[in-house]
This record gives sequence, structure tokens and C-alpha cells, in this order.
Amino acid sequence: MPQPKLTIIEHPLVVHKLSMMRDKDLSSRDFRSLLREISQFLAYEVTRDLPLRLQTITTPLTEMQAPVLDCPDPVLVSILRAGNGLLDGMLEVLPTARVGFVGLYRDEETLRPVQYYCKLPPELASRRVIVVDPMLATGHSAAAAIDLIKAKGATDIVFQCLLAAPEGVDCMVRAHPDVRIVTAALDECLNENGYIVPGLGDAGDRIFGTS
Ligand code: URA
Repeated sequence: MPQPKLTIIEHPLVVHKLSMMRDKDLSSRDFRSLLREISQFLAYEVTRDLPLRLQTITTPLTEMQAPVLDCPDPVLVSILRAGNGLLDGMLEVLPTARVGFVGLYRDEETLRPVQYYCKLPPELASRRVIVVDPMLATGHSAAAAIDLIKAKGATDIVFQCLLAAPEGVDCMVRAHPDVRIVTAALDECLNENGYIVPGLGDAGDRIFGTS
């Protein structure tokens, strides 16, 4: 099997914020706020290899050749609904990004993800596409969302999450070995209900206060 292209952000601030998020008594308000903060550290990693070109600019002191981004605006694709919790922070650091949404539900007979919504920006083939979902659990939704995104022409795709389970990473490596995964932590395993352990519970419920 190919090696996972997996990056774990091992930064003390990220680790500390994530530990606070795992606490079951944290309010939704604080959970959202920490998720937004961590998303910006993740954004730093998923964009670290974007190309640059030199542009002539004039500072108050002199003319210089200044590096500026040399690529079309990236695309953020949120896997509904928990992915939306990562969007705001990402848009603060990537304000010109385009945004797409993919909605999937699990068919209770086949246990496979079924698409109920898909709205993606045009010209995916020329853009970095950053797929966001806080939890990479079984990996089935992430792999299915990336199937849809590839079908629209995308080739430069990164998957960004907060927590990953080894099972989810394996699923992604089998389905999409070309896709880099960036996460704040790799947890131990999934439990019998498909929750990441130790994890933080249902990310969507914790973001939106629906539990
Ligand atoms: N989705 C979640 O929100 N939490 C998990 O632990 C697994 C999947």
C-alpha cells in the first residue's frame, strides 16, 4: 500500500487548543472559536507550497522585487455540515478563495455515502482545492467527496481535518493516494459506532450546539 502523505501539525499552541476542544464541558461558542483558531494553523500548512513570482513594488524607501502568489485563487470545499466550522478561519487567511459545498448522507443499508448536495466553483483543474472536514473517521465521506471533486477536473487536492483516525487515513490512502492529508492530531482508533477515540464527540453537534 502507498505511504500516506500525512502531515500532523505538532505545534504547542495547536496541541493546547485541541486539548481544550476535547473537553466535553466546553461550550459551543468556545469550541467554534478554537476551531477557527486552529484552522488558521492548518491553513498555513496546506498552503506552504503555493507558487510565488516576483513583482516590482515600491516601498516608502525603494523599489524592490517582492514575492507574490502566482496561482489562481484556491478553492475551499466544505463537507457538510461540520466542514463549515473550518471555513470562517480559512477565509480570514485566504480571503479570495472560492467556496464549494458537498453534502453526503450514509445509506443505512449499504453504509456507503450518498450525495444530496454538490455545488462547486468552476475551473477546478487549475486551482489548489482544499477539502475541509474536522473529523477523518472512516474516511468514506472524504473519499466520496474527493471522487466528486476529481470528476470536475481537480488534480491538486489537499484534505484538511482537525482529527484523523488511522482507519480514515488508510481509506484515503487506498482511494486517493495522491491527496495530502493535513491534521492537528492522529487519534487511536474508531469505536463500534464510528466515533474517533479519544476524539471530541460529534463535531457538528459541538459546533452547532445540536446535541
Ligand atoms: N464524526 C464526528 O463528528 N466525530 C467522530 O468522532 C467521528 C465522525
